[in-house]
Order: sequence, then structure tokens, then C-alpha cells
Amino acid sequence: MFGAQDSSYQAAGAEPGIRALCAAFYHHMDREAQASTIRSWHKDDLDDMADRLASFVCGWLGGPRLYSQKFGPISIPSYHQQFDIGEAERDAWIHCMDLAIEEQNWDADFKRYLKAQFRIPAERCRSR
Ligand code: HEM
Repeated sequence: MFGAQDSSYQAAGAEPGIRALCAAFYHHMDREAQASTIRSWHKDDLDDMADRLASFVCGWLGGPRLYSQKFGPISIPSYHQQFDIGEAERDAWIHCMDLAIEEQNWDADFKRYLKAQFRIPAERCRSR
């Protein structure tokens, strides 16, 4: 059962697995034509973002709350209200995440589960 305690965190390969996922995610954001708008909203250096996203995702999947330990509290939907995120921008983000998830050495069930899970905060980041 993904979602119970830290089962999702463990299924993702704990912190190293989540770091690999987030590095792959920003790699795709940097290259996918569909993501060019949202890429342009990010700083040139995506390594810091990969660290921040991985730190958040560790806690989100039931592992250690690395983001709040390192950077302080965050509400993902509120933080993103500063950006003009509509359906196209949300879908560009999801597209990069789906590509990154597909590349990981994970069970098909967990891939399916995680893709569905990421759609929830992505939709809540939409500001229009
Ligand atoms: C819905 C589409 C999304 C868009 C367009 C988007 C865009 C952005 C942008 C432009 C930044 C700032 C980058 C910078 O300062 O260089 C950012 C930061 C961040 N995003 Fe998103 N994001 C989206 C969804 C998400 C989701 C679903 C999550 C979590 C599951 C997330 C987690 C983060 C985190 C942790 C940060 C770093 C905050 C910080 O410490 O400064 N984002 N995002």
C-alpha cells in the first residue's frame, strides 16, 4: 500500500532515488519545448531547484522532512501563486515529471501511483 507511513519514500529508493528523480525532472524541463515557458521562470542554475524539490518530495512521500529542516516551512500552493500557472503550464510541469518517473527503475504500479499523486499538488499550484 503506497501512501502508508514511509512506504512511498522506500519504494522511490529513499533520498538517493528521489534525488535522481528530481535531477531527471529538471533535465527534461531544461530541454522539452513544451516546458520552455516554465523553464524561463526558473533561475539559470537548476541544481539548487533540484535540491529544493528533492528535499520537499522526501517529506511529501513520508520520509524525513528535509525541506523544512533546511529551508523552513513552505506551502506549495501558496508559494506558487506568484507565478501565472494555467492548465498549459501545469501540464508542462506534469509532462516533465512523467518523463522523469518513466525513466526510474521502479515497479510499474509505483510509477502509476506517483504520476497520479503529483497531479494533485500540480493542480493546486494553478493560479488561473
Ligand atoms: C504546476 C506547475 C508548476 C510550476 C509552473 C512551477 C514553477 C516553479 C517556479 C517558477 C519556481 C521558482 C524557481 C526559481 O526560483 O528558480 C518553483 C519552485 C519550487 N517548486 Fe514549483 N512549479 C510547479 C509545481 C510544483 C509542484 C507540484 C511541486 C511539489 C510537488 C513544486 C515544488 C517546488 C519547490 C519545492 C520549489 C522551490 C521553492 C523554494 O524553496 O524557493 N512545484 N516552481
